[in-house]
Amino acid sequence: MNPVPRIAVLLSGRGSNMEAIARAIQANRLSARIVAVASNRAAAAGLEKARELGLPAHCFPLRDRGREEYDAALAAFLRQAGAEWVCLAGYMRLVSRPLLEAFPRRIVNIHPSLLPAFPGLEAQRQALEYGVRYSGCTVHLVDATLDGGPIVAQAVVPVLDTDDEAELSRRILEQEHRLYPEALALLLSGAFEIQGRRVTRKI
Ligand code: GAR
Repeated sequence: MNPVPRIAVLLSGRGSNMEAIARAIQANRLSARIVAVASNRAAAAGLEKARELGLPAHCFPLRDRGREEYDAALAAFLRQAGAEWVCLAGYMRLVSRPLLEAFPRRIVNIHPSLLPAFPGLEAQRQALEYGVRYSGCTVHLVDATLDGGPIVAQAVVPVLDTDDEAELSRRILEQEHRLYPEALALLLSGAFEIQGRRVTRKI
């Protein structure tokens, strides 16, 4: 039997995607073990949620370190914890070279829009302001660009005339919680290929 893949989750806030991943593992919809949940913010509610779920939760503060110094220390910590994959779940920092090199093609992110539309902050607000009729969420591999790596999975969410930012975010989040564990199941199974920007299921 293949060993269970070991993953770390990085978050900066609420942690509902981290919880969705943890619940998918509990329900045997995803074969993985969360070896660390880490946050750059001590006050992140997701850290408390992780502890309630019985997961090892760590605050990893920036202090006065520069981006690369911080990411090198974080990479060493995650390696030490035994992580093979890193899942960004509402992690609001750009990932720099030392972390990318420690986990090549093994850092995954979820973003609340249909990339390449609306990268960066407040993607749901950007979608509303632009006037698109459809938005959604994207799971992608992380590279050095902002929300720009190869796309693994997407889900479409219609934008309703009655939507405000909170309501659109809520419906996108519902899809995020389904999509992220599904996309991780594909990646962790290893049954995929990356050709250029395309991630496809190996047949
Ligand atoms: C989610 O909507 C996630 O897609 C978004 O932050 C939220 C985190 O919620 N991430 C980004 O915007 C990254 N650019 P959560 O903490 O409840 O999982």
